[in-house]
Amino acid sequence: TPPISPMAIAFDAENLTLSPAGPTLTRRMSDLEGLFLDTDAWAAAVHGDDPVVYTVTSSPVPEIDRELPQSITTIMPGHTSGELWMTKGHQHPDHQGEIYLALKGRGGLLMFDGERTEWLDMLPGTIGYIPPGWAHRSVNTGDEPYAFLAVYPGGAGHDYGWVLEHGMGSRAYRATDGVDLRPYSAP
Ligand code: F6R
Ligand code: ZN
Repeated sequence: TPPISPMAIAFDAENLTLSPAGPTLTRRMSDLEGLFLDTDAWAAAVHGDDPVVYTVTSSPVPEIDRELPQSITTIMPGHTSGELWMTKGHQHPDHQGEIYLALKGRGGLLMFDGERTEWLDMLPGTIGYIPPGWAHRSVNTGDEPYAFLAVYPGGAGHDYGWVLEHGMGSRAYRATDGVDLRPYSAP
């Protein structure tokens, strides 16, 4: 890979796109196996229209050591048996920190260090700080797409198995006034 030069990246706040852009990842319900508590409701959604739950659009900055890549995650509004649509969630293998900036919609940032759980309400303009060693998951708590910018060390990596094994401490359910956090239980 040739070295990356200093560059400006145009962010389109209306369409939530980056230009120039790198790869875009699409996560459908079928990609979220083992995450929602109600496994039957999850399977029914997969065998239905297998909806897109979220997308991640990256800038051209590569995920390699010493680089500082960014991406925009857009989570659709929805729930599976009341459990709000969310990202898979992961731990960074070497425990690097990360920052999120909420851009649009309403959401939450759920963090878990193996013992303690933290929840941050994420409204446009909120910067959520993920300290080293905290697994993190994002949740859409509203009725429109929730989008945020993530900035993270290029060598951070994504350990999804950690979350499947340890959970996230809490589960986020829809409530009339935002979110109902319930203690984690395995599916
Ligand atoms: C990168 C990061 C975010 C997430 C994205 C999708 O370290 O935390 O860019 O990767 O929000 O979530 P996951 O990766 O959990 O599917
Ligand atoms: Zn991360």
